[in-house]
Amino acid sequence: MDQGAGRWALVAGATSPIGSEVALRLGEAGYSVALLGFRHPEALARLEGALERRGIVHASLRTSLHGQEGIDRALGWVEEGGMRPEVLLFLAASGVMRPIGELSMHHLGWTFGVTSFSMALLASRLKPRKLIAVSSPGAGRAVAGYGAVGAAKASMEAFLRYLALELAPATSVYGIRVGLVETPAASRLPGFPEVRERVLSATPMGRLVTPGDVAELAVVLAREPLEMLTGSILDLDGGMGLSI
Ligand SMILES: NC(=O)c1ccc[n+]([C@@H]2O[C@H](COP(=O)([O-])OP(=O)(O)OC[C@H]3O[C@@H](n4cnc5c(N)ncnc54)[C@H](OP(=O)(O)O)[C@@H]3O)[C@@H](O)[C@H]2O)c1
Repeated sequence: MDQGAGRWALVAGATSPIGSEVALRLGEAGYSVALLGFRHPEALARLEGALERRGIVHASLRTSLHGQEGIDRALGWVEEGGMRPEVLLFLAASGVMRPIGELSMHHLGWTFGVTSFSMALLASRLKPRKLIAVSSPGAGRAVAGYGAVGAAKASMEAFLRYLALELAPATSVYGIRVGLVETPAASRLPGFPEVRERVLSATPMGRLVTPGDVAELAVVLAREPLEMLTGSILDLDGGMGLSI
């Protein structure tokens, strides 16, 4: 790591296929990238290799964002590395895909901790110029087996609106509600093949969202002023569900 190198973007959830693409594109757009991951060191190593080959300054930390300790660790690491981010791109999410009747307080606490509360705590402490967080259609609709994560995403979206209020005018805040992206995590949705077909047939653009689509929008939101868009949740889903 080249400490204090240029403008930093912090990507939480960088080990996900979507987060990795976002980190790469932010790097290509001129940011130094600070990467947060947790369970998948191999994904982190792959991403770091790709950044290295492009000559993009980067640093990484594996920490669980489900509790205060892991969040403090991330904040301390950012501070000590002189990496206070201009952009916080938040994609961390975790949760058990089961009907609500099969969930415990532990499951819900974990899911909300990682997916929602950590976003609120990281963003409010770091006060980036741009906060961009990835949500999903399950925040506004009911998707079978997605109750825990869907409700946590809805909570995260509510925090985004409050942060837009509390951190203005220094910080602009955006949510991106991303349609279905074919990732290993998405394929664990109960009945995934049928869900995939239903989403495709309800999408005028005729294809699923790709990590590249998310990265493209993230880079625009990061780089362009767009301050009057603060507090908005944007649908990035090819028009899914527009028709009745
Ligand atoms: N795939 C889709 O269809 C879709 C649609 C809409 C929105 N999204 C959102 O896009 C993001 C990436 O999705 P994905 O499908 O690529 O899923 P994913 O691989 O499960 O991504 C989740 C990310 O969160 C991190 N994470 C999980 N538990 C954590 C913890 N305790 N502490 C810190 N980080 C933790 C993971 O890191 P490790 O793997 O290293 O633990 C990973 O980087 C998620 O926010 C997801 O909700 C996805």
